[in-house]
Amino acid sequence: MTQPKAPKAPNAPIDLARQLARFDEHWAPKKIAGLNDYEVKIVKVKGEFVWHHHEDTDELFLVLSGRLTIRLRDGDVVLGPGELYVVPRGAEHCPVAEEETAFLLLEPAGVPNTGSAGGPLTRAAESLD
Ligand code: NI
Repeated sequence: MTQPKAPKAPNAPIDLARQLARFDEHWAPKKIAGLNDYEVKIVKVKGEFVWHHHEDTDELFLVLSGRLTIRLRDGDVVLGPGELYVVPRGAEHCPVAEEETAFLLLEPAGVPNTGSAGGPLTRAAESLD
């Protein structure tokens, strides 16, 4: 028995904690909003991702919980809750989290999570709606 979907209130805020509670999968970005041709995504991660870069765009990471290390070729950036970092276009990076970590991503719609690298961790962002 599934509950009928509640109609979406036009002015409802997006509650990040509530949206994060709706999934458990790691390294699988979920779309929660859009602005112009950008997407706001949230993702839970644990362990090491894959080295990659994005040819055509910068990528914003905002940590919501846990601790995210973004490995870069010239050193690591370590982010805790409430801290953000923008990986510049073309810069190789590899996100790593020792504990389960949640962060928000902001980048143009359709940017693949593994960028240049491809491979088995490549996931299209799904909508939570
Ligand atoms: Ni990336």
